[in-house]
Amino acid sequence: GTVVLAYSGGLDTSCILVWLKEQGYDVIAFLANIGQDEDFKAAREKAERLGAKKVFIEDLRAEFVEDFIWPAVQANAVYEDRYLLGTALARPCIARQMVKIARKEAAHFVSHGATGKGNDQIRFELSCYALYPEVQVIAPWRIPEFYNRFRGRTDLMEFAQKHGIPVPVTPKAPWSMDANLMHISYESGVLENPKSHAPADLYMMTKNPEDSPNTPDVLEIEFKNGVPVKVTNVKESTSKALPLDVFSYLNEIGGKHGIGRIDIVENRFIGMKSRGIYETPGGTILLKAHLDIETFTMDKEVRRIKQGLGIKFSEFVYNGFWYSPECDFVRNCIIKSQENVEGKVQLSVFKGQVYILGRESPKSLYNEELVSMDVQGDYDPCDASGFIRINAVRLREHHRLQGFSSTK
Ligand code: ARG
Ligand code: SIN
Repeated sequence: GTVVLAYSGGLDTSCILVWLKEQGYDVIAFLANIGQDEDFKAAREKAERLGAKKVFIEDLRAEFVEDFIWPAVQANAVYEDRYLLGTALARPCIARQMVKIARKEAAHFVSHGATGKGNDQIRFELSCYALYPEVQVIAPWRIPEFYNRFRGRTDLMEFAQKHGIPVPVTPKAPWSMDANLMHISYESGVLENPKSHAPADLYMMTKNPEDSPNTPDVLEIEFKNGVPVKVTNVKESTSKALPLDVFSYLNEIGGKHGIGRIDIVENRFIGMKSRGIYETPGGTILLKAHLDIETFTMDKEVRRIKQGLGIKFSEFVYNGFWYSPECDFVRNCIIKSQENVEGKVQLSVFKGQVYILGRESPKSLYNEELVSMDVQGDYDPCDASGFIRINAVRLREHHRLQGFSSTK
């Protein structure tokens, strides 16, 4: 049969490619460009040399931003209060393209290099099953004949040498990385001890705030339907408007000022805790700016419901359920909530922080006259007396009973 392999160009998936061929499969290598720093031409040549029947390398950056990152911005998507889901959002994007290729090439199998302990296997496979119900998955890191043969990096290197797979010349960083347009994540290896600090040279997208510029950049971000449609650097008067350009520019400015670094222990879907370090510069700026324009323009009670939906959405995405009825439902509710989320937010980016400076919107629910300390507006202060006394009914009853039982 024919198998489409999610190929990264690295040592693991190169060995998997050759191993799949050994098992008798025709292998189609698929490498998605989702903004990682990669020599795609070299990766293609490598896959061809290893015997891939075909190699597909596809630029998914624009659709990653518009179809996956933008919905996350609308949702204020954050997992366990801190993680902005950079890896989790990329998986359904990659899987969608992988399924397109598998269908077009009449391949009945898909394969990936995710381990048997992580979230990524779940995200890849749930997405593939949802979009291609008849597909069969080959996950080598869960197949005993594979993982007993490759017990560590030395085994992989040895296999590579024997099969003419170019072995990496630069020594591998002592941790595992996953990089895309939205973030870089670092885990395992020396980071597995949750107490040990990350080395200063680990971070690749962001400058250390201790070494970042001593003057801020001031940005104006314009939103429509809850997504950014334009970013302007106020002092330099440079502007970007295409989604990919907007997001890349926010990464650049955020990276320059050390925005969006976190070091956390999180709960994997599988049930174990893992330590991860993340840098999400552009995503962090957008989260702060979107929260600001959203609260400015959205009804209070709608916002409370929507906030809960955002948490649900984040869990669905983290657990790999992007293509599920529940995620689809919640995503559409969130889209509906964003109809009036438009306007401009000005903020400054400085020393690892985002400072909101001001906002304006044609859809604002902010009534300057109503809230003013100096003007009466359409409001009778005497009404507040009744409002407070009615709210106090329950509190006074509670205290009356408590006071009664405590003096008994
Ligand atoms: N813990 C993060 C997540 O589950 C990052 C996973 C990183 N994946 C990887 N293949 N290195 O989203
Ligand atoms: C992996 O296990 O392949 C990476 C970590 C994860 O998916 O959670």
